[in-house]
Amino acid sequence: MLGKNLMSCSFLLTFLTLVDPLANVAPNGQATQSSLYANNVHAVNVINGDMTGLCSHTANQSSPWWKLDLLAVHRVLAVTIFNRPDCCPERLIGAEILIGNSPSTEKALAAPLVMEILSTLTHTFHCGDMEGRYVVVILPGQKRILSLCEVEVYASLAGVLMQNVALSRTADQSSSHPDGPARNAVDGNRDPNFAKGSCSLTHQESNPWWRVDLQNVYTVTAVMITNRNEFENRLDGAEIWIGNSLEDNGAKKSRCAIISHIPKGRTFYFPCSSTEGRYVTVFLPGTKKILSLCDVQVFPLDYADGTYI
Ligand SMILES: *[C@@H]1O[C@H](CO)[C@@H](O)[C@H](O)[C@H]1NC(C)=O
Repeated sequence: MLGKNLMSCSFLLTFLTLVDPLANVAPNGQATQSSLYANNVHAVNVINGDMTGLCSHTANQSSPWWKLDLLAVHRVLAVTIFNRPDCCPERLIGAEILIGNSPSTEKALAAPLVMEILSTLTHTFHCGDMEGRYVVVILPGQKRILSLCEVEVYASLAGVLMQNVALSRTADQSSSHPDGPARNAVDGNRDPNFAKGSCSLTHQESNPWWRVDLQNVYTVTAVMITNRNEFENRLDGAEIWIGNSLEDNGAKKSRCAIISHIPKGRTFYFPCSSTEGRYVTVFLPGTKKILSLCDVQVFPLDYADGTYI
């Protein structure tokens, strides 16, 4: 839902610069909050695009916050906040929206925008093209409760667009279920529903692995992995390795990350602290394991003056 002011803003943009109106990118991000008041008021409730659904709600605490990780640096034009329709809209007074590149919720994030008095349910804040990967709503002070019912972030990708060098590369895995060839995880389709035919799947075995050959040596800064909707715990404990040879199926290399848990259907971003390699391997150590990946994206940082080398 676009606020009145944002509508006219998009209208102007469209006619002055011939760009597409900005999308609400919040549903693509990952939301967390400082505490949880009760079981059904999770941070993620407010980025599902459903204005009539459940809200988020922290405990009564000191400086509660809600945070959205957009997974990449965005240029944020506007943020729309939906307040509670049923009670106590005044609790949001004094809340601040922070946009920045550090996951820290400290004020160091950026100069905050301070919300005005909330007299209506929906508020759109113009952020003047602030750049950042994180959008934080924080209520500074003692004994405060932060409850939001929807958050929309109108933004475009900023800075250098990250290039997924795994896309459509040659992928292989330790064994293949007929409906889950390795290439399904590099097809650029993150659909987490296995039945839609876009996830890889091994048979049950010991130490299954999946690997992509990037066909060039890259300095890998991050790997993003999308888990499937079903059997979400199967990926727990999987390891991401980066290396230059196929010896031991790529195992004798640098480990980028161990996946503790990726919730079902979600995409998580694993920083790899600039590891060089041509092969990216996902290993699942243990017996009677099944490895299934819906999408693997690999991001290099091989820039010279902002362009790829
Ligand atoms: C938060 O807790 C304090 C006591 O610690 C209480 O006085 C205050 O009313 C509570 N706030 C709300 C909104 O319940």
